[in-house]
Amino acid sequence: MAPTVIFGARSGVGFHLARLLRQARVPVIAMLRPGADAAALEALGVRITRGDAFSRRDVDATLALAGEGEFDVVSTVGGRGEDGRFADEDGNVNIADAAAARGVGRFVLVTSIGCGDMAPHRSGRAIAAFGASVDAKTRAENHARRVIRSATFIRPGGLRSEPATGRGILSDDPRIHGFIHREDVADLVARVLRDPATEGRAFAAVDADQAHCVNAIEPFPLAR
Ligand SMILES: NC(=O)c1ccc[n+]([C@@H]2O[C@H](COP(=O)([O-])OP(=O)(O)OC[C@H]3O[C@@H](n4cnc5c(N)ncnc54)[C@H](OP(=O)(O)O)[C@@H]3O)[C@@H](O)[C@H]2O)c1
Repeated sequence: MAPTVIFGARSGVGFHLARLLRQARVPVIAMLRPGADAAALEALGVRITRGDAFSRRDVDATLALAGEGEFDVVSTVGGRGEDGRFADEDGNVNIADAAAARGVGRFVLVTSIGCGDMAPHRSGRAIAAFGASVDAKTRAENHARRVIRSATFIRPGGLRSEPATGRGILSDDPRIHGFIHREDVADLVARVLRDPATEGRAFAAVDADQAHCVNAIEPFPLAR
């Protein structure tokens, strides 16, 4: 089975994705920052490498572990470095470039609601609170789309660390907004990896019961 390389697996969506993929016996490789606690991932059978997404060399070394065969990449990397640089942009640009150079299979980048064509529909409050990081994620999406035509972008709404509801949906309506639990985002990403109909597309990810839209909500028919 082709391995999945996850960047951002120490916590949140990336961790839950590693857990779901290991349950399905998919080999998982995860790059964690030096010193980050890897015990929970190791207990799941995840192969750990150490590195920083700001370092193209570290990202290349991680992808080399996937071998010469087919492999997939998922990044949930976000946040800022000590120097103020956005990992949301520079880290994910490194990951996309390295994945493109090695001929990645599926490439899934977890960004945020409000990215890309959703930007004009953001509230003033959302722009004030997270506008800069969402704009950085948009620049990463645009770059990844240029270097990996089949890249898929998953844009979660506000994230909650509560148990899965099983009610996560994907939507390509740029006006949708709402919340979703991290476990449900992970489930959607695992299904996206198995569904070729999602290649080359961008979707908001929200909980059907915690979503709002001026239009009728029509979930993308994602394979189970
Ligand atoms: N919070 C929200 O409501 C919200 C809403 C929409 C979208 N999002 C985005 O959705 C994604 C998933 O969110 P989440 O809360 O599940 O994520 P998270 O727990 O913050 O995980 C992000 C991961 O990225 C890693 N990371 C950051 N900078 C890195 C670097 N330079 N090199 C290597 N790894 C690095 C972090 O590693 P460390 O553990 O070492 O820090 C962490 O494991 C994020 O991109 C987030 O910005 C968040």
